[in-house]
Amino acid sequence: MERTFDITSVREDFPILGRKVYGRPLVYLDSAATAQKPRRVIDAMVALVEGSNANVHRGTHLMADESTSMYEAARETVRGFIGAAEREEIIFTPGATASLNLASRSLCELLVGEGDNVIVGKMEHHSNIVPWQLACLGEIRPLPFTEEGLYDPKALEALIDERTRVVAVTQCSNVLGTRSNMARIAEIAHRYGVVVVVDGCQGVVHGTTNVRELDCDIYAFSGHKLYGPTGIGVLYGKRELLERMPPVLGGGNMIATVSFTGSKWTELPYKFEPGTPNFVGAVGMAEAIKYIGEFEPGDIERHEAGLLDAATRRLGEIGGLHIHGTAPGKAPIISFTVEGVHGYDLGVLLDKQGVAVRTGTHCAQPLVDHYGSGSMCRASFAMYNTVEEVDALVAGVVKAVSMLRK
Ligand code: ALA
Repeated sequence: MERTFDITSVREDFPILGRKVYGRPLVYLDSAATAQKPRRVIDAMVALVEGSNANVHRGTHLMADESTSMYEAARETVRGFIGAAEREEIIFTPGATASLNLASRSLCELLVGEGDNVIVGKMEHHSNIVPWQLACLGEIRPLPFTEEGLYDPKALEALIDERTRVVAVTQCSNVLGTRSNMARIAEIAHRYGVVVVVDGCQGVVHGTTNVRELDCDIYAFSGHKLYGPTGIGVLYGKRELLERMPPVLGGGNMIATVSFTGSKWTELPYKFEPGTPNFVGAVGMAEAIKYIGEFEPGDIERHEAGLLDAATRRLGEIGGLHIHGTAPGKAPIISFTVEGVHGYDLGVLLDKQGVAVRTGTHCAQPLVDHYGSGSMCRASFAMYNTVEEVDALVAGVVKAVSMLRK
């Protein structure tokens, strides 16, 4: 039975929300960096470590079987959650950064030579820029974005050509909260036979994701932004593409045979999972997915949209404050600058009032540079935040700005 979304009972699920900072109740508005974890995620990991801890896919004993079953059940949970067709398309990695490094190295080896090009969005997180710079022998073409924070399909049409091999974009900006028109981007790219790589770190948290509807070829996300643990993430790929992609990390479990005359790789998904995987993290992430899945579809998004609306309206009333990224339908992420105030100073003074936000370039320096700001302040909301916390943010900004402008 689906659970009614009730903010008081939701907050009780997250033990950390009871803590105080500087003697005040914690107002945690940094969930885009890492989200807090419900008790049942923590409990699921403790139960696995205390009860069945053994290496997966290796032992013949009962505990190895139990750990392996739980790890593979987690893969199935992830598959269902993102609507992938087959469990072999779900690769566990240490996180989205590892997923995107794996994808870029493997795809560049497979597809990109001199004279070819890769199109990378200018509002990407560094983890969807730098890996391409490391791996790509061809040209990297930056895809511009509009002032309101969207990739314009016309700009993509202008950049793409018969030597383009990959388009790498985010589903949802980690700084602006704006959502890409993935269907249109994929349609253009696929018309040219180009592989579409999507950073789903924020998109997967805020709203339903179906990778087959997005029609992306590769999709990456992390567990820790999804109310799960750190150190675990996912690389989804269409099976036909993953079959062709070479592995980039070698070791145990990813091989069929090893000899000094040449080794052979094993089948998907293990070809891309060398070494002992983070099976405890995978089980924790699956538990987080099950937790979110308890609620009626749309309830979490409606709650978060209410917080974003209130924050946008009320912050917008503060003189000299500019909100960056204004496209409609945003995820609950709001980045802003205040004239005459450095983002870092604002962040520190908010912290002293118990309000945790992120400041700086948010691992997306080209985006922040575009808006002419050295440091933005970002408040990111999650399912457990409240309207009272929006009030605390607004009051905190007003107070900090008045102190800094004195
Ligand atoms: N990528 C994380 C963020 O956006 C760390 O804050």
